[in-house]
Amino acid sequence: MPIYLLLMGGPGAGKGTQAQFLREKFGLPQVASGDLFRDNLKRQTPLGQLAKQYMDRGELVPDDVTISMIRERLQQADAKNGAMLDGFPRTIPQAEALDGLLAEFGGRVNVALYVKVPEAVLLERLSGRWTCRGPGQHTYHMLFNPPKHDKLCDVDGTELYQRPDDTPEVQSRRIRVFFEQTSPLIEFYRQRGLLSEIDGEQPIEQVTAQLVGAVEGVLAA
Ligand code: AP5
Ligand code: MG
Repeated sequence: MPIYLLLMGGPGAGKGTQAQFLREKFGLPQVASGDLFRDNLKRQTPLGQLAKQYMDRGELVPDDVTISMIRERLQQADAKNGAMLDGFPRTIPQAEALDGLLAEFGGRVNVALYVKVPEAVLLERLSGRWTCRGPGQHTYHMLFNPPKHDKLCDVDGTELYQRPDDTPEVQSRRIRVFFEQTSPLIEFYRQRGLLSEIDGEQPIEQVTAQLVGAVEGVLAA
């Protein structure tokens, strides 16, 4: 049976940072909706151009296009044993569509990991974030997790950049959108007994250790 892990949390909570470790640990590909949109934009596809209009404003891309993009991604060969979903689902309709989709693949959501971080800390994290241009999308923070060499990725040596949706205005909008439109999913998964809440204000390694423990607990049950 394939395994599907969800990583939830506000913008800057550390979803991407933690997914780097969890994908290795559990041998599952990281399927990040934001990264898929950014990749489409880089390739100048119609989906990328559509998504840009929403991402630039910090709003959610419409459910129908987001769901079909994820469906296509989860059908790829590397996801046959499951996936680590980062940033999807983000609305109740996306979560319901995901249930149907995973049932088609003979699986289900095994656990929804919510990395909980207060709003003020989210802003602090986003404003110091730098991301690498390599396929691994490794993340750094100029104060909390600096690279060894100025503006270069420790892992693959590619240049680090700041995301265009990390302006103060768009950051605030993304955080607001999270609390208004995505946070209802916390209750959605809690009611189904699938939620595991992790304190995201701890150092990166401690958050990883707790996430690994939560996943191992669920997989062993
Ligand atoms: P997306 O790319 O998913 O962005 P996001 O949710 O805003 O989250 P981020 O990637 O900004 O944060 P993160 O949690 O990954 O944090 P990170 O690990 O980088 O989405 C972008 C846009 O795409 C959306 O606005 C929307 O338009 C669209 N979109 C995407 N998915 C969609 C969907 N499903 N439906 C509709 N639209 C969708 O960490 C942040 C920083 O903090 C880093 O610098 C890191 O080094 C640092 N850090 C991490 N952990 C710690 C720690 N424990 N202590 C100290 N620093 C830490
Ligand atoms: Mg991310």
